[in-house]
Amino acid sequence: MESYIGKSDFFKGNDPERLVREYGSPLYVYNEDIIRRQMARVAGVITKYPYTANYSVKANTNIHILRLALAEGLNCDAMSIGEIRLLQKAGFPNERIFFVPNNVSEKELRVAIEEGILTSLDSLSQLELYGTLNPGGECAVRLNPGIGAGHSEKVVTGGKRTKFGIAAEELDGIFGLAARFGLRIVGINQHIGSLFMDPQPYLDAVSSLLRLAVRFPGLRFLDFGGGYGIPYHKLEGEAEYDMAAFRERLLPILDRFVSEYGDAPLFKSEPGRYCVAEGGVILGRVHALKQNAGRKYAGTDIGMNVLVRPSMYDSWHDIEVLRGGRLLPRADMEEVTVTGNICESGDLLAKDRLLPRLRRGDLLCVLDSGAYGYSMCSSYNSRPRPAELMIGRDGNVRQIRRRETIEDLMAYM
Ligand code: LLP
Repeated sequence: MESYIGKSDFFKGNDPERLVREYGSPLYVYNEDIIRRQMARVAGVITKYPYTANYSVKANTNIHILRLALAEGLNCDAMSIGEIRLLQKAGFPNERIFFVPNNVSEKELRVAIEEGILTSLDSLSQLELYGTLNPGGECAVRLNPGIGAGHSEKVVTGGKRTKFGIAAEELDGIFGLAARFGLRIVGINQHIGSLFMDPQPYLDAVSSLLRLAVRFPGLRFLDFGGGYGIPYHKLEGEAEYDMAAFRERLLPILDRFVSEYGDAPLFKSEPGRYCVAEGGVILGRVHALKQNAGRKYAGTDIGMNVLVRPSMYDSWHDIEVLRGGRLLPRADMEEVTVTGNICESGDLLAKDRLLPRLRRGDLLCVLDSGAYGYSMCSSYNSRPRPAELMIGRDGNVRQIRRRETIEDLMAYM
């Protein structure tokens, strides 16, 4: 594809140069249509049986984006009390929030219990703690299906090399604790990892969870987790995750299970990235160009504080270049290493990337930044976090989070 922002009409007639002049650089910009479209797609993955998609809010917790999830009929999963509070503020009732924490304190579990928020425990140790706090109560358990997948080892959450979930060999421990505390295990959930384009590992993990489910009579729900990928190499023509083909392969697996189990519990999934990644970009400015030992560098204000994924996982984000508000064609290209303004050599946005020959003052548009972008921002080097804008369905621009200020950074001291 020549240009994603062109093809998707991402800015809906708004001049990115003007947006940056008005709201500052760097700047997160979202497109409501794209986010809603992606949310609607995940909401419709299973139609034959009772199903809900839980938006995994860690991908992007901006309250205006949470409200889009609410409007699209999604439920949500939360990892922390902070995420629960944001969801409540966005208007989610507690019964539409699923708490899936890892290694939490007694205090955090108590909040969920007091507010009646269904919680999944992901170790025997946490299940025991939960049992002491809420004897006779209901909960879910997170199982490890023994299968993992993901774009980096750092985001694989199933299989043998991860801290997550309860292994299949420990099921007896679950039943023992449930009996001891009178707990009712009403759901089982899993998450194998983040970002797969080939659905096979996910389908295998679904089958694996379904095999374990028969050991849990009377389950109300089964949650298969998230992880659906998006094409980060779209400018090179990478195809989308084929949701239709995925559904076609998932359905017979569910059919078989429902006929054996004798009932269709509620099926759930937990997509984060798929909902929001492609609906967000970052605009940032090129401030310096230099040559170092034969390598050309472009220095920008999109540091690892703004988008950490490339530094943290070596992740690829496509970049488009704007000059004077106009998109540069992908011609007169040269290799350049794009860096940020942070005091670390690992502060790299793109290594030896083929881009139109850059000039100081150019604007870069970093694609697919809507997921794990702002939510992983930091104020490292005491740089305030950027503002976020939403381009609405009607093309109107709304600031949905103001830029942090240096005073904000000092506010807690
Ligand atoms: N459910 C659970 C229990 C999870 O831990 C996650 C992600 C999800 C659902 C949503 O996964 P998704 O559909 O977004 O792949 N920061 C990394 C991704 C970390 C994902 C952590 N857990 C990145 O930028 O790639």
